[in-house]
Amino acid sequence: MRKKVGVLVSGRGSNLQALLDACADPSFPAEIALVISNVPGVYALERAEKAGVPTLVIPHKGFPSREAFDAEMDKALRAAGIEIVCLAGFMRLLSPPFAEGWRGRMINIHPALLPSFKGLHTHARAIEAGVKLHGCTVHLVTPELDDGPILVQKAVPVLAQDDEDSLAARVLEQEHKAYPEALRLLAEGRVTVEGNRALIRDA
Ligand code: GAR
Repeated sequence: MRKKVGVLVSGRGSNLQALLDACADPSFPAEIALVISNVPGVYALERAEKAGVPTLVIPHKGFPSREAFDAEMDKALRAAGIEIVCLAGFMRLLSPPFAEGWRGRMINIHPALLPSFKGLHTHARAIEAGVKLHGCTVHLVTPELDDGPILVQKAVPVLAQDDEDSLAARVLEQEHKAYPEALRLLAEGRVTVEGNRALIRDA
């Protein structure tokens, strides 16, 4: 049985597209069963609709607290029988109960080689710091921001002439490879966690 995946988005959805494309292969061990956006009208929703995947908009602004918003997402994910949650450019902090509730079954893609450059504006900060390698990370989500056991990382060079946009584009290309790879590992049940480390069977 393919694992049922819910994807949380807030914007453009290019990582969602990479996951949709991977799941279009019937031999891929996961299928996307629901896409939730906290922002109405974003392009990610259009991508999901084109792929025939049910979508839901839950605007965070309509909720009195982060916990209440997360509880609504949680309800929708469980009602759809979701087994794995992927955060794909989902630009909201998660409340601890939501993160705990999906521990080991929720992954995030971050545009930096964690634990370097947590948070926002990662590409500008990488250029500013003068690092020669930058990249992306897919990790299991814990209640701490951009933390949690690492499943897949991909590195790219930082070139002398790079600006934020050129570096972002080079990293994004790798994100679209890293995310399906990581989802496959999790969906195939090949991930176990020991302390801060994710151990991958038959890596
Ligand atoms: C991606 O680069 C993703 O890594 C980043 O937002 C972008 C979303 O693009 N995520 C974060 O910064 C999360 N803190 P997309 O909507 O085209 O996938």
